Amino acid sequence: MNVFHVVGARPNFMKVAPVLEALKARRSVVQTLIHTGQHYDSNMSDVFFKQLGIPAPDVNLEVGSGTHATQTADIMMRLEPVVAKNKPDIVLVYGDVNSTVATTLVCAKLGVRVGHVEAGLRSFDRTMPEEVNRLVTDQLADLLFTPSEDGDENLRREGVSAKKIHRVGNVMIDSLIRLLPLAKKCSTTGFPARYALVTLHRPSNVDDSASLQGILESLLEVSERIAVVFPVHPRTRQRIADLGVPPGNLQLSEPLPYVEFLALQSRATAVLTDSGGIQEETTYLGVPCLTLRSNTERPVTVTIGTNTLVGQDRQKLASEMKKILDGRAKRGNVPPLWDGRAGERIAEILCSSS
Ligand code: UD1
Repeated sequence: MNVFHVVGARPNFMKVAPVLEALKARRSVVQTLIHTGQHYDSNMSDVFFKQLGIPAPDVNLEVGSGTHATQTADIMMRLEPVVAKNKPDIVLVYGDVNSTVATTLVCAKLGVRVGHVEAGLRSFDRTMPEEVNRLVTDQLADLLFTPSEDGDENLRREGVSAKKIHRVGNVMIDSLIRLLPLAKKCSTTGFPARYALVTLHRPSNVDDSASLQGILESLLEVSERIAVVFPVHPRTRQRIADLGVPPGNLQLSEPLPYVEFLALQSRATAVLTDSGGIQEETTYLGVPCLTLRSNTERPVTVTIGTNTLVGQDRQKLASEMKKILDGRAKRGNVPPLWDGRAGERIAEILCSSS
């Protein structure tokens, strides 16, 4: 069986690694890894390949940044001849980024089967570019690998045949479990002993200057009670620079490699984020997470895990932060099938369905 994996952006890399590894053990499988080049800075891409043990991509489409239409169209135009020439038996796509939907469209039109890893998640907010990517990808995919029961329910409600849906658990947590021992040994010298860890990159938070300004002011308030460590995504760095707000006590840094970031997450007093994956990682780690969004496509992190949605409500952020600092943080559990074996389950299903 000839399997293509197409990845492009930082959150794809921790998802592809366990599937590549699980399929490597199957003699009947030949794998090809394609990087679209959606993320291209070495601290957004290469360092993740290295730490996660992902082999160098066989093909790099080098699309780079652009508007959503430009980026999606560029990926489609550059990927189409590669898929048409090689005719893989199945193409695996990951998560909800523009590379995911662009690849799915190309394959659906060429009649090539698509497997979507991390299917069925819904924020029910179509102003999020990722929600549009999820909806389109899941309608067109042939195999849908879901991380949790809500994913199955969402897909069934949208008319996806139950035969296509496979609940395999959370593949990103496979990578976390594998690299956590290394993260535990990783030094965080230079960072404070006690801190809140922040990440922000959602367009709804950072592209609107009033929203970003409000969030930065909230973070400055938090920094009066606890150190704030903030590795900054490139789009956010640009927006902060445009705004001209002095960072005050916030400890800004470049985006961090996977293991260093995992080390910081696992030792944080609290994590404040608008990322999807970090809501899941903190739930697994049992670290309190305040999500600066009014919705989440990962509801189990709220119902089972340590996540609380605070949106852009400054008072709620302050009161939830106070609870954490006063030792009254929300406690959580690890959702079912977040056990480090999701990649293996995907490999099993792929090999038995070919
Ligand atoms: C993308 C995903 C988002 C994911 C995020 C993780 C989509 C629609 N969005 O958002 O779901 O959570 O990745 O990071 O696919 N840039 C660099 N260097 C890079 C990559 C980007 O400087 O290596 C800058 C560029 O100015 C670019 C901007 O970041 O325009 C945004 O990058 P882009 O890939 O369009 O979206 P992300 O915000 O990273």
